[in-house]
Amino acid sequence: MFRKFRERLLGRRDISLRPMKQGAGWLQSTLPPTFSPSQIDVSGVRIRAEQTGRLGEQPLWEGYSEVKDYPYATSGNRTSEQVRTAEDMGAFYAWLVSRRRPDMIVEFGTAFGISGMFWLTGLALAGGRGRLFTYEPNLIWADIAESNLRAISDRFTLTRGIFEECAAATLAEASVDIAFIDAIHTSDFVYAQYDKLKPYLKADALVLFDDVDFSPDMGECWRDLAYRPEIVSSYQLGDRVGLVELGGSRP
Ligand SMILES: C[S@@+](CC[C@H](N)C(=O)[O-])C[C@H]1O[C@@H](n2cnc3c(N)ncnc32)[C@H](O)[C@@H]1O
Repeated sequence: MFRKFRERLLGRRDISLRPMKQGAGWLQSTLPPTFSPSQIDVSGVRIRAEQTGRLGEQPLWEGYSEVKDYPYATSGNRTSEQVRTAEDMGAFYAWLVSRRRPDMIVEFGTAFGISGMFWLTGLALAGGRGRLFTYEPNLIWADIAESNLRAISDRFTLTRGIFEECAAATLAEASVDIAFIDAIHTSDFVYAQYDKLKPYLKADALVLFDDVDFSPDMGECWRDLAYRPEIVSSYQLGDRVGLVELGGSRP
């Protein structure tokens, strides 16, 4: 979490989109070797993100206290600056959506709504189509997120709860075009959440995994996921985000 804060202070930088598993598909025909964030106007998100940062520290969701082997403190407070998606990566998310034109994006967790605002910016660039389904169990953070998301667009459904418990009541099977897994960054959680997500993904869905360099455990988890048989191609975005396209052979 604190790493995101340090990276944000470094400002907007080009993002390398490095192929891992290579196969013909939408990603291979669409992604450039490098993404330049300046091509996407995210000034509306920047203003809301700065205002949210000025709210200061807010209490972490109590569910973290039950996480084993987490490399950071699992109680206390965080600012949105410590947990949010950086602007350069957020601009990439908006660009990705503008090119892919998805009907449905799913993300967990919402936190303060910063990554969600980038997804909604992408949906607006895609011509005002599609919807974001986002999940957050921290009720204090979710209220802040709701107001941020609403400032960008109303094309979202924010569910207050954990994805694992709320997915069945909120999503149809095989309906999700893009999913963003950005909740608790341990392999135990990420593997279980990816498995939970699978029935809701379209056959050619894109899935992003945040903080793949969070710990050695997350690095191993990502290198395993990136080469799974159901994956057509996988890319590492900068140091921190993994992106896969489904559609390979089903295990
Ligand atoms: C790193 S933050 C997300 C940052 C946000 N995506 C952004 O970039 O602005 C992780 C969030 O996931 C939430 N969370 C943890 N477990 C979750 C779960 N199982 N389902 C949904 N959200 C979860 C946490 O409360 C926290 O707000």
